[in-house]
Amino acid sequence: MRQSSNFSTRLIQWQQQYGRHRLPWQVKNPYAVWLSEIMLQQTQVATVLDYYPRFLNRFPDVESLANAAEDDILSLWAGLGYYSRARNLHKASKQIIEQFSGEFPQTRIELETLCGVGRSTAAAISAFAFNQRETILDGNVKRVLCRVYGLDGNPQDKKFENQLWQLAESLLPSENSDMPAYTQGLMDLGATVCKRTKPLCHECPMSNICEAKKQNRIAELPRKKTAVEVQTLPLYWLIVRNRDNRILLRKRPAKGIWGGLYCVPCFENLVDLYQYTQTLNLDSDGLNEQAAFTHRLTHRLLMITPFTTDDKPSENISDGLWIAQENLADYGLPKPLLNYLNQAQKNLF
Ligand code: ADE
Repeated sequence: MRQSSNFSTRLIQWQQQYGRHRLPWQVKNPYAVWLSEIMLQQTQVATVLDYYPRFLNRFPDVESLANAAEDDILSLWAGLGYYSRARNLHKASKQIIEQFSGEFPQTRIELETLCGVGRSTAAAISAFAFNQRETILDGNVKRVLCRVYGLDGNPQDKKFENQLWQLAESLLPSENSDMPAYTQGLMDLGATVCKRTKPLCHECPMSNICEAKKQNRIAELPRKKTAVEVQTLPLYWLIVRNRDNRILLRKRPAKGIWGGLYCVPCFENLVDLYQYTQTLNLDSDGLNEQAAFTHRLTHRLLMITPFTTDDKPSENISDGLWIAQENLADYGLPKPLLNYLNQAQKNLF
């Protein structure tokens, strides 16, 4: 048996018996598959299982998503993080209407032209929804391949990555109808068996062909990425309430942290915060500094210091909205802000 068919046959049989089944996105609807693949980027299955049905219920097809207001999309996304994913979904839905006459593209190459869809995601959509022979290659799959084939290249090296794409393509099953089980199998094996730490080799369908296992190099492969330094970024929140106890929110710029989400006025330094209080005619002596806390993003550690004030600014703030506490969850607020405001409210009573 050729090595490649050996790999795919083992994987498909294992997936059918031990893989994940009846996930809500295991359907032939390309819109539903696309949405799930975008949500599952950098997000755990358990979290997506919570958000996905709500999103799909509210925006059941490409048309409804393309016609939606960005704020409504972001508010359903709030808490999932990586908000550019939600903005790209919106842009891509418009591309599908305008450039593909509303017909979901089927080939990996066409899918890659959609905003937010890279090569591996395009391959997943075309394999799951259209049985196309295209390979995924995400971090989990790279780990499986490096171990099974005993490859110790640097995963950050472009040349080595190209070799992994070639290897992954050579392993595809020959039958189109096997593509969904095979692709799900790659995902399932990486996520549930060939885990980064403490892999469950005794449950692995590849254990008796696995080079890393044979050479006792499981812990060594794949080679570790050089760690990126996590920068600490101070942020200062200004929490202002009007006479009706509504909170001042502003929409954040599209680029950067919490892009496009509603947030209380937020600054990277105190000078900007003080200047802003002056534009609101607030008494800066009346600002109360609250206990700072940290919030970890992928590449940054935010050190957040909230400031409150009992002073009431004039109501007409050109770029702000006054939102009642009970309506905050309807807006796309960063998770740490929603948690903080809900906690602060509880402490009042
Ligand atoms: N991660 C990315 N895509 C996935 C899928 N379709 N099922 C489970 N986990 C995934």
